[in-house]
Amino acid sequence: MCGIVGYLGNRKAIPIIMEGLKSLEYRGYDSSGIAYFKDHKIEVIKKEGKIQNLDALLNYDEDTFMGIAHTRWATHGKANDLNAHPHTYGKITLVHNGIIENYEDLKKALFAKGKHFESETDTIVVACLLDELYEETRDMLKAISLLMQKIQGSYALAILCKDETDTLYAVRKDSPLIVGVGENETILASDIPAILGVTKNYYLLNDKEIVQVKKNKVTIYDEHLNEVLKETKTYQGDLEVSSKKGYEHFMLKEIHEEPEVLQNLLLKYTKEDKIREVFDITPYKNIEIVACGSAYHAGLIGKYYLETYANKKTTVTYASEYRYQKHFFDKENLVILISQSGETADTLAALKLAKENGIDTLSIVNVRDSSIARSSKYVFYTDAGIEVAVATTKAYFAQVIALILLALNTVEDRASYLASLRKLPSFITKYIDSFDYESYAKRLATCEHIFYLGRGIDYALAMEGSLKLKEISYIHSEAYPSGELKHGTISLIDENTGVIAVVMNEELKEKSISNIKEVLARGAKVLAITPIDEDFASSKILLTKEDAFLNPLLAIVPMQMLAYHVAKIKGCDIDKPRNLAKSVTVE
Ligand code: G6P
Repeated sequence: MCGIVGYLGNRKAIPIIMEGLKSLEYRGYDSSGIAYFKDHKIEVIKKEGKIQNLDALLNYDEDTFMGIAHTRWATHGKANDLNAHPHTYGKITLVHNGIIENYEDLKKALFAKGKHFESETDTIVVACLLDELYEETRDMLKAISLLMQKIQGSYALAILCKDETDTLYAVRKDSPLIVGVGENETILASDIPAILGVTKNYYLLNDKEIVQVKKNKVTIYDEHLNEVLKETKTYQGDLEVSSKKGYEHFMLKEIHEEPEVLQNLLLKYTKEDKIREVFDITPYKNIEIVACGSAYHAGLIGKYYLETYANKKTTVTYASEYRYQKHFFDKENLVILISQSGETADTLAALKLAKENGIDTLSIVNVRDSSIARSSKYVFYTDAGIEVAVATTKAYFAQVIALILLALNTVEDRASYLASLRKLPSFITKYIDSFDYESYAKRLATCEHIFYLGRGIDYALAMEGSLKLKEISYIHSEAYPSGELKHGTISLIDENTGVIAVVMNEELKEKSISNIKEVLARGAKVLAITPIDEDFASSKILLTKEDAFLNPLLAIVPMQMLAYHVAKIKGCDIDKPRNLAKSVTVE
């Protein structure tokens, strides 16, 4: 959600900045813009829509060696050219990721002083305020430090000042920003893929740290303007993060990476019947899982394994709800935050709330050194590698496995469970290719509504299957607990409704099958995803019957593949679905 790039160095800035900006497209955006120095003037070019619209207006050969750029995901004010970043007021031009919560009050105060702006964004208010503070202090560092005392909310800002043609500034609080340091060049960015064209080495910034970038010098200050000395980190992963490696879409590539991701997790954390280096949840009374989106769905699967195998009472709550609900904090509980990006604003806020109340926190995070990872007491990295498609697949699966390992760590007699888990990567490899997903998808793509049904763990699986389908294919879809159907939803079912039934849980199969029959009796076509080779649906993706421990996990890839193929048939922008952002850094 919003991407920031800033560059200062000895190479022409526009190609480098734009390469970085394009690598952040996955975050989700609806307009983009760039600002750079040319002949001591700041040029600003911005455009609604895809980055290509901006690209078409740029001269890549421009003699400029410093600039800032942005992809905007509209929050305050429509997605149009005017509201796109960068924003300029007086001598200040800046880009912003985050939300300024007190911008209305600030705006009123600035209006009262006769200041006016056309853009409806919260960001223009920051530009105006910073300009005022700069005019007062004539010192950018002081002005930025004072700005932080006045603005509330979340922000990563990259800033140019008209008076300083050789300096780039940045600051962050609760929104991501890293500082890549190359040889005689520096690149600021919201995420690692954007710096890799320049360097693998980068500084992480803590909240309220200010960066001053000059030609051969990067200086970092705390909010009181004391210099902060830091070590750089080095990115260790794959440099080809922006390549689809021959796959048509990142989502398909990432599904294909699942066997390796899971294999690596199992190799790292298990040996024979032992589990190593996995956090021990035994001392805790209850587990509270907090997450958003697919990570929340992973949490629901985790609940099943933690309750069934570790005998730990587990609750799962949306982070956006957790923040504002009534709490009965209990220091004997453990709060587990799950997040692919490690930057989700609601999850981060929930983490802070739990910490403030003295509760131990464990985060299950994919992106190393992300805000959630750095703020929680304990971390379990899923190390699924960079995920580019907005619709998560491999990172979600890795979250599920991490939760299962937490559960199994408490189980003494775990050899047979581990043996089952170790079969999973080869099943996934098989299921990616085994079924004619395209032909099932052709039928589903004609439906206006698709229901996913399941009971118990199958319902948790169905929720993620349904989310995957709707987010990338734009077909309305809902997951329902099979038993709830006749309490209302069945009135929506007719011969045009698509129904996908997840029946992986053998113990509940009779109940699930009788619910499916009720749906068939209303004329709907039911596609079952199941290892049960009986005649209870219109068609079936028939999986291998394994033990009760492994069975549920076998349904995940077929559901991901189905969603992918439906979206492909419908011609959707699979990797970058409309309105969605991969990293949701605002509340
Ligand atoms: C967004 C993404 C989802 C993701 C959710 C939580 O909505 O589109 O795929 O599950 O955020 O993100 P996180 O990074 O915290 O796992």
